Amino acid sequence: MSIIESNLDEKRSFSPSKDLKTNANFSNEDFLSLTKQFKNDRNKTWADLANSNILWDKSFSNVISGEAPFYKWFCDGKLNVSKNCVDRHISNSKSAIIYISENNEKKVLSYSDLYIYINKFSYALRELGLCCGDRVIIYMPTIPESIVAMLSCARLGLIHSVVFAGFSSNALRERIIDSRARAIITVNAFKRSGKIINSKEIVDEAIKVDCDFVDKVIIYENHTLLTNKKTRDVLWSEILPKDDKYIDPISMNSDALLFILYTSGSTGKPKGIMHASGGYLLNCIITNKWVFDLKDQDIFWCTADIGWITGHSYVVYGPLACGATILIYDGAPLFPHSSRFWEIIQENRVSVFYTAPTAIRTLMKVGENDPNNYNLESLRILGTVGEPINPKAWMWYYEKVGRNLCPIVDTWWQTETGANMIAPIPGINSLVPGTCTRPLPGIDAAIVDPDGKELTKPNQGGDLVIKQPWPSMLAGIWGNPDRYVKTYWSKYSSKYYVTGDTARYDEDGNIWIMGRSDDVVNVSGHRLGTMEIESALVSHDLVAEAAVVSYKHEIKGEAIHAFISLKNNSNNKIELADDLRGWVSLKIGSIAKPERISFSDSLPKTRSGKIMRRLLRNLARQEDITGDTSTLENESIIEQLKEIV
Ligand code: WTA
Repeated sequence: MSIIESNLDEKRSFSPSKDLKTNANFSNEDFLSLTKQFKNDRNKTWADLANSNILWDKSFSNVISGEAPFYKWFCDGKLNVSKNCVDRHISNSKSAIIYISENNEKKVLSYSDLYIYINKFSYALRELGLCCGDRVIIYMPTIPESIVAMLSCARLGLIHSVVFAGFSSNALRERIIDSRARAIITVNAFKRSGKIINSKEIVDEAIKVDCDFVDKVIIYENHTLLTNKKTRDVLWSEILPKDDKYIDPISMNSDALLFILYTSGSTGKPKGIMHASGGYLLNCIITNKWVFDLKDQDIFWCTADIGWITGHSYVVYGPLACGATILIYDGAPLFPHSSRFWEIIQENRVSVFYTAPTAIRTLMKVGENDPNNYNLESLRILGTVGEPINPKAWMWYYEKVGRNLCPIVDTWWQTETGANMIAPIPGINSLVPGTCTRPLPGIDAAIVDPDGKELTKPNQGGDLVIKQPWPSMLAGIWGNPDRYVKTYWSKYSSKYYVTGDTARYDEDGNIWIMGRSDDVVNVSGHRLGTMEIESALVSHDLVAEAAVVSYKHEIKGEAIHAFISLKNNSNNKIELADDLRGWVSLKIGSIAKPERISFSDSLPKTRSGKIMRRLLRNLARQEDITGDTSTLENESIIEQLKEIV
């Protein structure tokens, strides 16, 4: 197995400052004591953490139950997640949300404003007849109303599924149908990089046929654009009561579903990852306290969109449950200028900043010295997530943004894990650029060889697995228990949860993520299934076959190279390539657009008819062709495949 980049001998190391060692939420003594407790009695330790961090309506007696791998956490306990996130903080007169729009309008909601708003919107949802267990799609940008929508669903026991507002009507439709949603909450339109996106039209298109199970579409008028109202549409402003209301938060079982979030897998169909209430909330809370060292006075800006898991756990549920102030920005990072992020940090005195390596690389490229022009002294913790961060970008982030003072927490986790799993704790771990360091207390990670044997020596690459269940683990795949078992548990006979990532240890015991072991690519920190993109391409009239692989990209981390054979070879390739990019944007969303396209008479196949993906990967990555090509029917197509449009 080869490593993803040659940073094997990365020797730079940054130890925690004296201040962090003394003042961080989680000290070395806490770490040693908790590690010991986990070793002595795992379940009791999780129970203690759940009791001290969550507000339970009824306490639990059962820590973990259910038949493997369908584990249930704190199963007979009862709680309400929205109550945990909002009701318990209303006596603190502090801001919950600072919202900044692309046009630089600012809105601030205190915890009591948020509480009043959620109660009113919960009332409206209940009046529409929605009840416990119903699925609600939230197709909105990151604005206060989308957070109100999520927390109102949680208050009523409705299962939300947030769909990234950049997804096309096709991708949205697939998720609406799979979840059989009774309601959709959307906006009439929103602005991105100055361009207007008409979300309501996209929703109309998505449910045009065979979606009679959708009773209501709720539209928040976020823009002056006129809303074209259909019979099942209601306006947010019409259903929101004029007077204050109080809606009792429903006491939910801890294993009741809080949300479904769709993510790409190695087959064409996205997986509806399910998260339950109590266990999910616990890991969100403790990781916000431990890894981000979140304190009462912090202003936490996690730049993730609420359409991704990071937006769920580190914009909404985790920080709010901790009573923090979150900042949300609903705009493009480089709009209207390349220092927008630094300007926002300066103006709002952001203290904890969490973003993705792709954003860091872009910002470094467009304005290496831009951070020098801003006062970033309020920053104290920096974070990254979504893909491995290359040491060069890490150092720039550390020196220019963090002024050599702020620890960078490189957090490894997944939609499925719910919360950070492998990450440094600022007051404890020494940081080395490029590694997410060590598993958090209670997380039993290992690296194994193909026989499932643990690899403990440095620099042996293998599958990254988790040996013991943990509270915020996925509760399964919506409507597909077999796929859950097959995807995550079957590879090592149900012994381990299989992450799909490969990793290695370095000499100091730090974990380095090497990449994916399945057909999933990671473009700008977003997971995309190659099969999903291939099926979009072959659904185009002119395409006969398509194979998609990734190659390393300076800014995006990975980019997509599509190899295509056509039904009819007479088309203009440049026009067709543009057309296909537009087609993929339409089918999935512009994040899935192939950066490079190569056309050939046919795709290289083995005798049994399998596309030779390894060969295509070699071509895309401009490597020597490895492996056997003797079975290739037509050698000349290799030359054709090297041509990029
Ligand atoms: C990758 C995002 C290296 C990994 C929270 C994982 C990372 C996938 C890191 C999950 C990191 C995430 N270093 N790789 N710090 N964080 N990944 O579900 O391949 O969108 O399996 O969740 O992103 O992506 P997802």
